[in-house]
Amino acid sequence: MEKAVIRRLTTLCIVCGLVCLVLLGVAGFRDTNREWKYYQEDYRQKLLGKVGRDKNPAMYQRIVQMKPELKQVVVGEWQTVDRCVTCHISIEDPLFAQAAQPLKTHPHPELLKQHPVEKFGCTICHGGQGLATTYYGSSHETIHNWPVTLVSKGLMQSRCGYCHKDFEAIKADKLIQGRALFQELHCAGCHQINGQGGAVGPDLSGFADKDPSNFPMENLKGSRSKQNWVIEHFSDPQRVSPGSSMRAYAMSERQVEALASYVLSLNQREFTRKYTPKLSAGFVPPRVDTVLPEPGLNSSQAEPDVKKELRL
Ligand code: HEC
Ligand code: HEC
Ligand code: HEC
Ligand code: HEC
Repeated sequence: MEKAVIRRLTTLCIVCGLVCLVLLGVAGFRDTNREWKYYQEDYRQKLLGKVGRDKNPAMYQRIVQMKPELKQVVVGEWQTVDRCVTCHISIEDPLFAQAAQPLKTHPHPELLKQHPVEKFGCTICHGGQGLATTYYGSSHETIHNWPVTLVSKGLMQSRCGYCHKDFEAIKADKLIQGRALFQELHCAGCHQINGQGGAVGPDLSGFADKDPSNFPMENLKGSRSKQNWVIEHFSDPQRVSPGSSMRAYAMSERQVEALASYVLSLNQREFTRKYTPKLSAGFVPPRVDTVLPEPGLNSSQAEPDVKKELRL
């Protein structure tokens, strides 16, 4: 081989070697600088401050030796892996009630007792992308054209309704109000739920299971998520879904949230006994296609100005 060729090959090898080294360095740097490691270190420091070396030396030592690690809850039955607790690491620790997110204690500790984290995880109630270990990837904010978003605050009860069919038993006021609105506004005139109602519009029995890609998002003003689609669709079906025969409904923000929570709770997922709340003997869900004799009567108890705002 010519000398020049050998020299060129040698240079190439050296350059390649250097590039590999730099890439390795970048990978190493990124690995030690992961978002979640920062939060876990913050947690460790704060915990050390709270426990104190003198008050509880043994525990103090244990915290000193804490190493950053991925934490996850695997729920076989739903085939989900929730890593939310990797960052929300002190979600059950009452010492962190005043901390900033993601270290703040859960606002409803009783809910976590009734639905233990190691059995339920987080995404069954909150939505989001369980496997992700970044703030962005977990879908705290809507990701453009990405179907899995965190459930917005006003719609949290939609998830309770996935499993709890007796809304009164868990005092799910929004689901109760949403179902009453469904009757009062005669939605069942056009929509069926579990065989009850008309068939002008789509069957809503499994509305929560419907993939977000089924919804035309291009006419939305706000974020392109299924939950926002439902909310904007109520106020202007023709804009959101051109050619729709559904009319617009003038509702208060609270009523929109209630009705949206209700339709987003309608699913046909089968849970095993482990995840199915017991129903009291003789429980029958109320029919949705009964036309209430006096429109506004039911939900007006929850919200006095319902008649005025609905202009019924
Ligand atoms: C990389 C770390 C990280 C992971 C992983 C993570 N979070 Fe968060 N989360 C945060 C931070 C940081 C905040 C606070 C954001 C703020 O102050 O606006 C937050 C806030 C929240 C909030 C409060 C509402 C909000 O949007 O501000 C909820 C609810 C929440 N997270 C749920 C979840 C769930 C459910 C998961 C798993 C799917 C998850 N988080 C995974 C870091 C994380
Ligand atoms: C049984 C359902 C359920 C489970 C399971 C659950 N949460 Fe929640 N979570 C709620 C409800 C309901 C709220 C209150 C939302 C509101 O303020 O209206 C809430 C509130 C929160 C908030 C505060 C939101 C805010 O804006 O202040 C955070 C953070 C949070 N949850 C994180 C988690 C994480 C992390 C997990 C898993 C370890 C989890 N939750 C498991 C139902 C649940
Ligand atoms: C994955 C299904 C599932 C989801 C989602 C869910 N729960 Fe539950 N919940 C259960 C199961 C299972 C129990 C255990 C009680 C039982 O066996 O009847 C329970 C128990 C409870 C209890 C205790 C009272 C009782 O009936 O034993 C309350 C209150 C409750 N849930 C409220 C809620 C609320 C509020 C939400 C929404 C934020 C919610 N649940 C979301 C399945 C679920
Ligand atoms: C006059 C008949 C009619 C009435 C009454 C009506 N809808 Fe609709 N609805 C439709 C039609 C048609 C569609 C399909 C076109 C579209 O997306 O707007 C639809 C779509 C929907 C969708 C989206 C379903 C999907 O799978 O894409 C929801 C959710 C919905 N309606 C809820 C309601 C609720 C809640 C009410 C009562 C407040 C209601 N509708 C009243 C005709 C009606």
